[in-house]
Amino acid sequence: MAEQRAHWGSKLGFVLAAAGSAVGLGNIWKFPYVTGRNGGGAFVLIYLACVALVGLPVMVAEILLGRASQKSPVGAFRDLSRPRSPWVFFGLLGVAGSFLLLSYYSVVAGWALHYSWLSLSGALVAQGPNGMQPLFQQVYESPLLNLSYHLLFMGLTILVVLGGVAKGLERWSRILMPALFVMMLILLGRAFMLDGFGRGFEFVFGLHTEQLTGRGVLEALGQAFFSLSLGMGAMITYGSYLRREDDIMSAAITISVLDTLIALLAAVVLFPILFSYGMEPAQGPGLVFITIPIALSQMPAGSFLASVFFLLLVFAALTSSISMLEVATSYFIDERSWSRAKATLVSGGAIAAIGIPAALAGGPGFFGAGMTALVGANWFDTVDYLVSNWFLPLGGLGISLFTAWRLDDAIRHDHFLSGSKLAFFYRAWLALLRLVVPFAIVLVLLHAVGVI
Ligand code: PHE
Repeated sequence: MAEQRAHWGSKLGFVLAAAGSAVGLGNIWKFPYVTGRNGGGAFVLIYLACVALVGLPVMVAEILLGRASQKSPVGAFRDLSRPRSPWVFFGLLGVAGSFLLLSYYSVVAGWALHYSWLSLSGALVAQGPNGMQPLFQQVYESPLLNLSYHLLFMGLTILVVLGGVAKGLERWSRILMPALFVMMLILLGRAFMLDGFGRGFEFVFGLHTEQLTGRGVLEALGQAFFSLSLGMGAMITYGSYLRREDDIMSAAITISVLDTLIALLAAVVLFPILFSYGMEPAQGPGLVFITIPIALSQMPAGSFLASVFFLLLVFAALTSSISMLEVATSYFIDERSWSRAKATLVSGGAIAAIGIPAALAGGPGFFGAGMTALVGANWFDTVDYLVSNWFLPLGGLGISLFTAWRLDDAIRHDHFLSGSKLAFFYRAWLALLRLVVPFAIVLVLLHAVGVI
């Protein structure tokens, strides 16, 4: 007998869990360095446009597919079209994407765990400014450290997902998301008191169009997808635990605004810190693990601030990683009728195993130096490239084309409107989803193959 589908305890619980999925390493680790690399201001403006015109419509589509089908991605595409429909491919792509994405996401989250520990114990600040680059290098290259923290982080993720929808995902998001927000405000208060605040603020919000390139525009779109957790069925899965009365459009707006706010706050905290200590904004992925510790180690109460910062990173990563594992877990629950415990342990265990090469990617072995010599990128970078540039955009394309052109109009219209006070958005949403969204994603894909 099929069990009744689990649901969120409340609409706020859903919004917090979905915002928790969206707010992650993408906001705090990636957004600032991508912004820095693209010269700030103008890039931020394009990013905001991508969130509003492409990201938001896709998010509404995902939540709608989930709520209408009450199924995770594979079942959603099948039940809303027909058995063996080719659209099911996009559901499977999402499940495969969740395995791959979490496998290396957890390695970066592991660094954040390690740095939290180093900050709390005072060892981080004790390295002094000149010790930060060698420290990160050492962490990045150490197989033992990477493996241990990767497995520890996967363990935490599995523990939360074992608790189920209301008692696992929702409960932990309710605790971690407000904590994250408070920590962000503490750091913002500190950044505000620095000499470089004005310059940092200007860097994020001033219009420096001269630094923006075509590549930057496409990067903004990719970043919006990643940051809003789109294209992988995470929002389909979370939407499938929604009840019919809840308004999709207003929830999607709230989630997107929260996600964008946290990304902007992270930038407004980090750039003043950089400028106040005379550092360059275009630092790349090492930004939060090298440059920020250099600055913090010179500040009064540096250990405290570093602890707040790295714990914030861990919290943000955890509320995202649980949504990735939930995509895999719910597939086995829905499609194979496994118990939650079995589905979580098997998929979590498999992801932990697939993550081992990613944990070894900084070292000298095959997955690190070996692959770099062979194909020019280590395992970690290769998988990140595949997921960010192929899986998520392709998934997003499938989701938007399906919802806009294939889904039964009555279902689409009905689900958009039920519970909604924002009915007048329906036409605008559909128009964006039909034309603007696919066009933008195809541009990104053409760029990925090198056509433009
Ligand atoms: N949005 C998450 C982040 O910003 C990453 C993510 C992508 C989560 C896709 C789920 C699905 O870190």
